[in-house]
Amino acid sequence: MRTILVLNPKGGSGKSTLATNIASYFSISGKKVTLADCDPQGSSQDWLNVRSDKQSPINNAVLAKGSLQIPQETDILIMDTPAGVTDKRLSKFLSQAQTMVMPVIASPIDIRAAERFLDELFSLKGSINNKIKIATVANRVREDTLIAAKLEYYLDKLKLPDGKRLPFMTMLRQSQNYIHAAERGLSIFELPPSKTYYDREQWEPLLRWLNSSKSLPK
Ligand SMILES: Nc1ncnc2c1ncn2[C@@H]1O[C@H](COP(=O)(O)OP(=O)(O)O)[C@@H](O)[C@H]1O
Ligand SMILES: [Mg+2]
Repeated sequence: MRTILVLNPKGGSGKSTLATNIASYFSISGKKVTLADCDPQGSSQDWLNVRSDKQSPINNAVLAKGSLQIPQETDILIMDTPAGVTDKRLSKFLSQAQTMVMPVIASPIDIRAAERFLDELFSLKGSINNKIKIATVANRVREDTLIAAKLEYYLDKLKLPDGKRLPFMTMLRQSQNYIHAAERGLSIFELPPSKTYYDREQWEPLLRWLNSSKSLPK
């Protein structure tokens, strides 16, 4: 089983949006997908609850006695995480996954929070990149704004502790498509292609990375 963690301790950065869209994408591709909502706020769980049986199936992992009960046949587990994950909880989440996607919003507060979080992440013992592959995604970007350019510049120059580049995958625009999809338990990949053409194009680099061995530790 392959596990993809969606994590950024900052609330509202787009974790649940990414987790649900990634889950739907892999389910449409024919993988047996389980979505684990580890956030008591339950956004991914709510999304699954309104999702119709007619859509490609996504299993639900439930927390029982502090540990996740994951359906045995799962190919890909997507973990949606709460805000404020640090210290031991952070280490525990990291130890459970091979891949981590970190969404960052184009705002000065979010960029500073990302800086602090990455400092903590990179100070953890053990070489992160040998155990888990991490990539960033700029989210809710409004093009042609100064802050979007700042975020792009910041994410693009990030380095891992070993000096290699921290992969910055893509910029996802702010779009009502994400809101409309979420309301109905859908992803942008389940809305009409004519309406979501641009968003799908923005997802391409992230999906290519997730489908390649580059997002898996050796
Ligand atoms: N690219 C986007 N365009 C428009 N709205 C977005 C986008 N990404 C997230 N949102 C909205 O922003 C809010 C916070 O996103 P969410 O995924 O719940 O963040 P988190 O799980 O990190 O708290 C939600 O209302 C969500 O629908
Ligand atoms: Mg959430």
